[in-house]
Amino acid sequence: MEAIHIFVKTSLPKYLRSLNVPKTFGGFSKLSGEDWVNLVPLVLCTAVFVMAIFRIFLGGSRKKNALPKVNQSIMKEDPKVVTQMDIEDIGEKIAFCRCWRSKKFPLCDGTHNKHNAEANDNVGPLLLRRAEGEK
Ligand code: FES
Repeated sequence: MEAIHIFVKTSLPKYLRSLNVPKTFGGFSKLSGEDWVNLVPLVLCTAVFVMAIFRIFLGGSRKKNALPKVNQSIMKEDPKVVTQMDIEDIGEKIAFCRCWRSKKFPLCDGTHNKHNAEANDNVGPLLLRRAEGEK
């Protein structure tokens, strides 16, 4: 703890007083090589601080695998949701769910309307229908 005390109370103020910081941006062009070398720790610490702030406030939502899952509840025990139907069983028309929220999945039950209203989204079903005259 004493090392931190000495750093904060003695070393850091001494270092900051020793810096030749110009009063204008134009003054940076008049700094010597030694002045620039002395500024390196301050610039690096400032950059790390700014990056940490950005990471905390902006980067937190970009964590790896942090994307929301599309499938919230359907057949979660299975490694992959695959549904097979015979074409003959489809009838005249059928609506397949593409929002993954239907209680009758893979068929659409209209739940996408609630999701769209809540999330300001625009998902909807895949509608299949037989062409006229087709069996
Ligand atoms: S309920 Fe999912 S698309 Fe209609």
